[in-house]
Amino acid sequence: MRIDNPKLISALPDLGIELRNGSALSELTSLGIGGTTDLLRIKKHEGIPDLLNLLDSNGVPHRFLGGGSNLLVGDGELPWVVVQLARPEPDVVLEGNLARVDAAADLGRMVTYCAKNDLGGMEGLIGVPGTVGGALRMNAGAYGMQIGTYVREVKLYRAAARKIEILRGDQISFEYRHTSFAPDDMMLAVTLELPSKPFKEILQGIRICNEKRRSSQPLGQKSAGCIFKNPPGASAGRMIDELGLKGSNVGDARVSDRHANFFVNAGTASAKDMLTLIGQVREKVRASFGVELENEVVFWTV
Ligand code: EPU
Repeated sequence: MRIDNPKLISALPDLGIELRNGSALSELTSLGIGGTTDLLRIKKHEGIPDLLNLLDSNGVPHRFLGGGSNLLVGDGELPWVVVQLARPEPDVVLEGNLARVDAAADLGRMVTYCAKNDLGGMEGLIGVPGTVGGALRMNAGAYGMQIGTYVREVKLYRAAARKIEILRGDQISFEYRHTSFAPDDMMLAVTLELPSKPFKEILQGIRICNEKRRSSQPLGQKSAGCIFKNPPGASAGRMIDELGLKGSNVGDARVSDRHANFFVNAGTASAKDMLTLIGQVREKVRASFGVELENEVVFWTV
């Protein structure tokens, strides 16, 4: 979708918004899949309510993009524009055991920066790609930990109230890959309370998680991490593997040979290829195990 209203375009600089025409979402997502649309980059949080009012009053639909690492975007010209936070400098400020982090901060960099300052707890997230905002919205977790455990406060744009609000950690529920945020809430910043730990000890934990991840996940390939959630008490990866589906493909969309719940873009896969493969695997798991797999990856395909 293209923004062509000159009045709207001329209002953007004052709101701290940069317009990038015709951005390819395939370049902004870890799967390397997705069509084109106009991208609005937000340089100051305060401009968000006015920007979204402006988009609404001009009939321009929008979606919020984080780091694009858990996302499958449709092909071709997309029917909405994309709004994304620009990363400020600094993006992490420490104060005792509190880390005040901008939602646009890179998750891995944030974990490392805190570690260097003797703040731990987040070792399991070290190889997870994406932004802190995306990790927060999905309650990202690995190796027995989840980010929600450490959340003290969240600053967010509440689409329903059309304003920026601050929520305490105990006002938010964090479950397995799910939070109580509304789908159109936009994460802006988070304050984490992290346990003190010597850097050397944290580094050891980080090395162990890195090693586990390297040996079980296709890290060098284009993917969006696990495609399906694990059903209660079961592993989606193991079920898909047991059906002998590793390496099966639709065009360049392929079930990873390394981890069966990772679907990779082995070249120039389209969203259509990936969706077809996901549908086929889901159907085979349903037929053999009687289990309906739920998506873990977010779909922007309609
Ligand atoms: N397994 C297989 N074959 C496979 C993959 C896994 O037999 O192809 C078996 C493993 O041997 C293991 C079991 O299935 O016994 C579980 O596998 P793994 O330890 O790799 O964990 P997972 O349940 O598949 C979850 C998260 C990952 C996270 C890891 C590590 C989900 C959907 N996945 O994977 O998160 O990195 O644990 O904590 O919750 C993601 O969210 O995108 C993601 C990759």
